Amino acid sequence: MDKLNKSKRARYQRLNTQLKGIFKPTDIMMSRLATIEAILHHKIKYYAWTGIYLLVDGELLVHSYQGPVACQRLAKDKGVCWAAINQNKTLVIPDVNDFPGHIACNSATNSEIVVPLKNQEGHIIGVFDVDSFELNSFDEIDAEELEKIINMAFEL
Ligand code: SME
Repeated sequence: MDKLNKSKRARYQRLNTQLKGIFKPTDIMMSRLATIEAILHHKIKYYAWTGIYLLVDGELLVHSYQGPVACQRLAKDKGVCWAAINQNKTLVIPDVNDFPGHIACNSATNSEIVVPLKNQEGHIIGVFDVDSFELNSFDEIDAEELEKIINMAFEL
């Protein structure tokens, strides 16, 4: 593992520990997710938009987020968020311009990661979405560490 990857993982692990402490008095999943957004958005430089879309009556509607104003509703089965839901897995998109149907809420966005949000029964309730203005911001380390952090919101 090279130095950069090591420090990236170490940074996520420090934030994971910090969040665990902050979560102690809260057992509300949405409060925890909002706190994850706030901490990661302000601590990780390439997080340019950080937030949640929730599945409501078969539609993806924006919920809490940090960053510029986002699309309020995502057209069904189009874009990265719907692809992550339909494929039931985290998607890392190095260049959103190469992703057919990508929905650009902000044209300055160049890479993206989307993690499906699964409740304790394993049902997908929405997605956790992060955009970066740079290309290639996200990789397997972001995927693994972000999944671990998000899972803490559901460990109530
Ligand atoms: N790019 C997403 C839309 C949401 S924004 O990135 C905030 C997509 O293609 O689904």
